[in-house]
Amino acid sequence: MILKELKLLKFRRYSDRYFQFNQNINFISGINGSGKTSVLEAIHYLSLTKSFRTNINSEAINDGQKYFQIFGNFLNKQSLGLLINLNYSRTDGKRVIVNGIPETRVSDHIGKIPIVILSPDSVHVTDGTQSERRSFIDKILSQAFQEYFVNLLEFRRRLSARNQTLIDYFKKGKNHYDAFFESQDELLVQYALKIHTYRMGFQREFNLIFQDYFRQFSHISKTVEFRIIPNIEADDEEKYEGFCLRRLKENFRRDLISGRTSTGPQYDEIKIILGEHDIKPFGSQGEHKITQIALIFAEGKYLEKIKDEPVIYLLDDLFAYLDARHCQKIVDFIGKHNQVFITATDVKETLQYGFEKLKDAMVIDIGEGKIK
Ligand SMILES: Nc1ncnc2c1ncn2[C@@H]1O[C@H](COP(=O)(O)OP(=O)(O)OP(=O)(O)O)[C@@H](O)[C@H]1O
Ligand SMILES: [Mg+2]
Repeated sequence: MILKELKLLKFRRYSDRYFQFNQNINFISGINGSGKTSVLEAIHYLSLTKSFRTNINSEAINDGQKYFQIFGNFLNKQSLGLLINLNYSRTDGKRVIVNGIPETRVSDHIGKIPIVILSPDSVHVTDGTQSERRSFIDKILSQAFQEYFVNLLEFRRRLSARNQTLIDYFKKGKNHYDAFFESQDELLVQYALKIHTYRMGFQREFNLIFQDYFRQFSHISKTVEFRIIPNIEADDEEKYEGFCLRRLKENFRRDLISGRTSTGPQYDEIKIILGEHDIKPFGSQGEHKITQIALIFAEGKYLEKIKDEPVIYLLDDLFAYLDARHCQKIVDFIGKHNQVFITATDVKETLQYGFEKLKDAMVIDIGEGKIK
C-alpha cells in the first residue's frame, strides 16, 4: 500500500495543506512544533480511524474551528486506488468514506490500510503498563483479522455490561451467583476463548519473526521472547471455556465488592524476556530501543504476511532512537519494498546515515512550508 497524496483541512496546525508523497522513503522535516508528527497522525487516522496521541478527537481540530477533514489517495499492490476521507465534527462525530461510500462500521474499515507506527507516544510495549502491552497485540490482530476486532468489541461490551450488573447487584444486596449471571457468563466465555485462541496463535507466529529481526538489528547476544501469560491457563482450548466459567463463579463475591470482573483475557499479561529477565525492570535504555524497533518491524512483517499487502511504516522521530550503526541496518532493511514516513528535525544528519542511497528518498520540508 502506498499513500500518494494527503490533504488536511483544519487539522492540528494546518488550515488547508496538500502533500504529495514518494512511494519509498519520505522524510518529513521541520523545526520542533512545525507539524511533522501531525502528518503521521493524519495517516494513522486514515488507517485506524483514530489518533495515536489522544483519544479526544476534538483536540485535533484546528483551534477555533468546528471540524477537521483528512483526505488520502492510496494505491494498493494491484494498483487499485482507495480514496479515503475521514471527517470529524464536534457536533456529528466521525465519518469515514471510502471511494465515495460511507463505512457503516469502524470494523469494516480497520485493516484496509495496514500501517505500523513507531512513536515516542505509541511505543510502550517494552516499558508500558500491561494494558498498553495488550493494546499492542490488539492493534495488530485487529488490523490482521476483522473477526478478531469484531469479537474484541463484543467481548468488551459484554464485559462492561457484566461489571455494571455486579455494581447493581452489590447495591441491592444480591450476593448469589444466579441463573442470570450463569447464562451471561456462558456467552462471555465464548468471546474470551476466541481472543485467547487468536492471541496464542499470534504468539507462536510472531515470536519467530521477532526473534529473527532482533538478531538482525542488534549486536545483543541475549535471546529474546515475546511471551503471553494468559489469565486462564488451560493446556488445551477445549478446557478454556470450562476453566474460565469456573473462575468467574469462584471469584463472584470478590468481583461483586470491586465491581470488576477479575477473570478473562482482559488480564492476560505480556512480557518480553531478554536473556533470563523481563525487559521492563531489567533492560537498559539501548535494549529497550532495539527491542522496540525489532518489534515494530516484526509487526510489519507479520501484517504483510496476513494481509498480502505491503505495510506503510510511520517512524516518528526515528533518530532519537538510534545510533548510526542501527540506522544503517534500518536503511538496509527498509530497502525499496515499503513506503516509509520518517520525521526528523535535521535531515542533513539523517541523510548521512545512507538514506540518500535509496533510489526514491524525498524530503518534505514543512518547516519552510514548501515541498522539495
Ligand atoms: N488543535 C490544534 N490547533 C492548532 N495548533 C495545534 C493544534 N494541536 C497542536 N497544535 C500545534 O501544532 C504543533 C505541534 O505539532 P506536531 O506535534 O506535529 O509538531 P512536530 O513537528 O512533530 O514537533 P516536534 O519536532 O517537537 O516533535 C504545536 O505547535 C502545537 O501547538
Ligand atoms: Mg513530533
